[in-house]
Amino acid sequence: MTGRLEGRVAVVTGAGDGIGREVARRFAEEGARVLVAEINEESGQATAEQIGGRFVRVDVNDREQVEAMVATAVDSWGSIDILVNNAWGRGNVGRVEAKTDEMLDNGFAMGFYGPFWAMRAAFPHMKDRGWGRVVNMVSLNGVNAHMGTLEYNAAKEALRTLTRTAAREWAPTGVVVNAIAPGAKSAAFRRVMGEHPELERTADRANPMGRVGDAYADIAPVALFLASEDCRYVTGNTLFADGGGHINGVSWQPDLD
Ligand SMILES: NC(=O)c1ccc[n+]([C@@H]2O[C@H](COP(=O)([O-])OP(=O)(O)OC[C@H]3O[C@@H](n4cnc5c(N)ncnc54)[C@H](O)[C@@H]3O)[C@@H](O)[C@H]2O)c1
Repeated sequence: MTGRLEGRVAVVTGAGDGIGREVARRFAEEGARVLVAEINEESGQATAEQIGGRFVRVDVNDREQVEAMVATAVDSWGSIDILVNNAWGRGNVGRVEAKTDEMLDNGFAMGFYGPFWAMRAAFPHMKDRGWGRVVNMVSLNGVNAHMGTLEYNAAKEALRTLTRTAAREWAPTGVVVNAIAPGAKSAAFRRVMGEHPELERTADRANPMGRVGDAYADIAPVALFLASEDCRYVTGNTLFADGGGHINGVSWQPDLD
């Protein structure tokens, strides 16, 4: 490891498990002080201990908690230099006509408002220092309008619009904003595939590289680039870290009946 984040303060939401945990781990290995922001106390504490970071319990659906999360980083370490909006909980699978206002509200709170509140609270601190990195986790589901997950798709595409709008507005300030559309065998993936090994093989075969990615080896290095000094002239992009899965799209036809 090369200390690429030495002296930086990073907040990673949903860092108790899956991609968030591996990103937090990699950032810590590169010298960052990492705030593990997670709704699940047990996994959040465990990750923080493992990587030598600090844990804060946060539900990203709650504005006050998100603002307190940013304040915790600033109060603890004097700044927030890197923000990774990664948290997402379980959603509903069903047809458009079966979606309720509540499902949509939950999706937008978690997938759009949470990142927006965090970015709004973090920006003044980043601007003051003339340096900031925001990394938003989005999804091929939204880009390709996968069936069954309207609130997820819509919130993630709104988050990409937020990414590009903030990137444009903040470009003169030294704060860059990018998104990753990942493909990785995270906790969420294993939850779905765990009971169905044949689905895991199908998912691996459907990927152009013949495998769904690894959160630490395949996704965390992309987040590291976007969070590092190397990303100084790159803003407003979506990087597909998915073994090429986005090129022809991925067949996704859930049984919605
Ligand atoms: N895994 C993939 O292939 C994939 C594909 C596309 C997009 N993504 C995106 O990447 C991100 C991470 O996905 P993952 O697969 O690692 O998920 P995961 O379920 O493995 O981990 C998500 C983490 O977020 C936490 N969390 C859930 N709700 C929260 C809340 N309200 N507040 C704070 N923390 C909360 C969970 O407890 C968990 O630790 C998500 O934004 C997801 O939409 C993942």
